[in-house]
Amino acid sequence: MADTNVFPVPESWKKSAWINKETYHEMYERSIKDPEGFWSEHAKRIDWFEPWKTVKDSDFQGDIRIRWFEGGKLNACYNCLDRHLDKRGDQVAIIWEGDDPSVDKTFTYRQLYEEVCRFANVLKAQGVKKGDRVTIYLPMIPELAIAMLACARIGAIHSVVFGGFSPDSLADRIQDCDARIVITSDEGLRGGRKIPLKANTDEALDKCPEVDRVIVVRHTGGDVNMVAGRDLYWHELMKDAPAECPPETMDAEDPLFILYTSGSTGKPKGVLHTTGGYMVYTSLTHQYVFDYKEGDIYWCTADIGWITGHSYIVYGPLANGARSLMFEGVPNYPDFSRFWQVVDKHQVNIFYTAPTAIRALMRQGDEPVRKTSRKSLKLLGTVGEPINPEAWLWYYNVVGEKRCPIVDTWWQTETGGILITPLPGATDLKPGSATRPFFGVQPAIINQEGQILEGACSGYLVMLDSWPAMMRTVYGDHERFKTTYFVQYPGKYFTGDGARRDEDGYYWITGRVDDVINVSGHRLGTAEVESALVAHEAVAEAAVVGCPHDIKGQGIYAYVTLVSGVEPSEELRKSLAEWVRKQIGPIATPDYIQWAPALPKTRSGKIMRRILRKVAANEVSDLGDTSTLAEPEVVEHLIRNRMVR
Ligand code: WT7
Repeated sequence: MADTNVFPVPESWKKSAWINKETYHEMYERSIKDPEGFWSEHAKRIDWFEPWKTVKDSDFQGDIRIRWFEGGKLNACYNCLDRHLDKRGDQVAIIWEGDDPSVDKTFTYRQLYEEVCRFANVLKAQGVKKGDRVTIYLPMIPELAIAMLACARIGAIHSVVFGGFSPDSLADRIQDCDARIVITSDEGLRGGRKIPLKANTDEALDKCPEVDRVIVVRHTGGDVNMVAGRDLYWHELMKDAPAECPPETMDAEDPLFILYTSGSTGKPKGVLHTTGGYMVYTSLTHQYVFDYKEGDIYWCTADIGWITGHSYIVYGPLANGARSLMFEGVPNYPDFSRFWQVVDKHQVNIFYTAPTAIRALMRQGDEPVRKTSRKSLKLLGTVGEPINPEAWLWYYNVVGEKRCPIVDTWWQTETGGILITPLPGATDLKPGSATRPFFGVQPAIINQEGQILEGACSGYLVMLDSWPAMMRTVYGDHERFKTTYFVQYPGKYFTGDGARRDEDGYYWITGRVDDVINVSGHRLGTAEVESALVAHEAVAEAAVVGCPHDIKGQGIYAYVTLVSGVEPSEELRKSLAEWVRKQIGPIATPDYIQWAPALPKTRSGKIMRRILRKVAANEVSDLGDTSTLAEPEVVEHLIRNRMVR
């Protein structure tokens, strides 16, 4: 495919950026040929209490061992706060913009430091110790970042659960990591609507008798039920807590956090990230990918409940002493200009969001954008799913007024930080391509047999060697870590994504090749939605696939076989959708539910998902090989009754 659209690096960026073409190539070469040398140099950006003994010790064979900077001692919170106090104590660290446009708040590094120390002391007073897991179920309010940093300060492992997840999903995540303490708030607020976080927590805790402490942030002031002996208010505990708390000395390989993510099978897995490599890598990528310069105001619109918020709202930016904006609201409240109003209000220079948001805003036309200034913007970023060139061009032309390079950053919860991305002073852009690997990253494209392909090609995206921010294991289940990522193609990290590489060596991510779907940049396992559906008394069997969706990227398409005697109806369709929503959370609500008297299966009883995907995508003229189908008439029925045409 010829690339007609190339956007060369602007002259001014070549001169001013941290990295230009020459330095990119030099540094990349070195990072691959001499990883020890490269990373020991760049690890100095982090403050270490004691130096490491080995830079890198990793093996993608056998038991899978990934260790970086072993023996090195540090504290992640110290790196985000304490070390900035001398120079930047009075500089803004976090700008918080509330859901309500008239509500905002800023924290300087010193103020943030004091709040974090106080809360660290609160946690200690509640008996939380190094290595304990702390579940955090909070909306996008400053207390979320404060709670995370306080955990890091005392060496507790945080597990943030996105506020959009249901009580059941929360309960699963609390149980899996055996957390004894949960931090939540009365309610969340998004687009003027209240989300009953404390009530959800109460419901979840019915299933988690081990949890003996809940700390509740009073945010909206809504009514909540406080359980005597278990529930305490944040503000009351903070009143008398001292504003000094020495940081715990952590080994580079001590866990920093667990974050649950969906896979192709079973329940979400606890992705475990450790301290040293993660801090080095997230701070380095934050500086170079976003070309962060002292004083810049940087805004990542993600929710901290996802990895994007962990790495690029909290740890990376704060380690760099940046000004990081945290937004509680949504792009269309009070109206579709909100993002750009916030940009103008806080003079944002660097803006990082998801393709789904860009597409939703693009649909509203240019007017809501054009009526704002956006003069402060200099760089735009995207993450979460492939961006279609049309949305890329709109983002570039309308939002950035052809002035701002776009960094399309490819990465995953597992990777901890950005792996494939343009660097704005070094990489000519092609709309829709995440372009090239970051330093130290060795991607390859393989075919189904696992052979590495050369030159321009397409296939499965794998990584040939480890990078510092890579996940270390699945919490409590190292076997699952091995089988999910390293068994199918031994010796390589399997990303689960398909990709193409063009003649210029640019990578184009084509999307998941496993049973994971990406709905508005949120990752879901089709198996999770299926097990929610079959848990309903009316459902005998269910199969779920992704289908193309204009705004969300992928929608959720469910085929449902009812138990005999139950009649399909619109009402039942609605209540099944509501059921899934209650079981997992709003992001998992099916877009389509098709009644299927039977599912297409092979003679050995395996559901033929490939066919279900085609029917859901309305690509019914070419179903591929159907010779192994047990009952071809089942497929004909599904085609006749398909929901998208
Ligand atoms: C999956 C990971 C890491 C941030 C948020 C998502 C898809 C992510 C891109 C991109 C094409 C992308 C992949 C990946 N993805 N960024 N720039 N271009 N696809 O994290 O929930 O772990 O999902 O998101 O399919 O595997 P996640």
